[in-house]
Amino acid sequence: MEALGYYNGAYGPLDEMTVPMTDRAVYYGDGVYEATPTRNKVIYALDAHVNRMLRSASLLRIDMPMDTEALKAELKRMVALVDGGDNVLYWQLSRGTARRAHPFPEGTKANLMMMITPYRFPDLTQYVKCITLEDTRFLHCNIKTLNLIPSIMAMQTAKEQGCYEAILHRGGRVTECSKSNVHILKDGRLITAPADNLILSGIARAHLLEACAALGIPAEERPYTVKELMRADEILITSSTSFLRRAVSVDGQDAGAKDPENFEALKSYVWTRFLRETSV
Ligand code: PDD
Repeated sequence: MEALGYYNGAYGPLDEMTVPMTDRAVYYGDGVYEATPTRNKVIYALDAHVNRMLRSASLLRIDMPMDTEALKAELKRMVALVDGGDNVLYWQLSRGTARRAHPFPEGTKANLMMMITPYRFPDLTQYVKCITLEDTRFLHCNIKTLNLIPSIMAMQTAKEQGCYEAILHRGGRVTECSKSNVHILKDGRLITAPADNLILSGIARAHLLEACAALGIPAEERPYTVKELMRADEILITSSTSFLRRAVSVDGQDAGAKDPENFEALKSYVWTRFLRETSV
């Protein structure tokens, strides 16, 4: 499949698409985004992603250029144009098109951009290594904004150290990763940072909590520390595109991997959920 792009109603091969220099996403990153896998032309957890985009846009006072049903229809039309294999659908909404000036522009409406690209789902039986880093992001991490510089720097640092993710913390309190949420299992309980302004409330995190409820694993949404992480029975990393990964090394030390039964049960639940929801 060729990757496909969309901008305000125009479609084309992704690498040939362009956006105006005066789109506020270009020079301010003034917008919000979402990303989720598609399979068999089904957009996984569409409602949850659209609802989160509405929340992010509302917190930034960006007006939706169309109503929710029209947005969903536009997303589905995009997916219908490509083959039914495994893809990732990304979409973003920028505040509008105007000459550069910090206040909100007047007389413009939000721009919708979409990209759909082929994707190979990760092998969840491959376990991963992580590093820890101080979380230097701003205090609005609950909003899925386009401004991702600290996350990009953190991910690159992890990559250069042969690691899959950077686990971020504020003065020892674990928040999340550069592009995922992180959770621990200890003594048969799941502990995950609360969905406050320090983390993005992940859709895959919600699926993990659903799995815990279904499997009878008690879950606590509370702050936890790097020290607890290093002593955890399991370290779980979630995101829409990576589902559930198991971290077995942190900062070069063996970590987690001490509760395989619960890890396997959770992994199987979230993966089966995805297959079920995206089957036709
Ligand atoms: N990232 N935390 C951060 C900072 C994220 O960027 C993401 C998603 C998540 C997980 O959210 P969800 O489970 O809803 O995918 C948590 C996406 C995948 C990205 O930026 O590509």
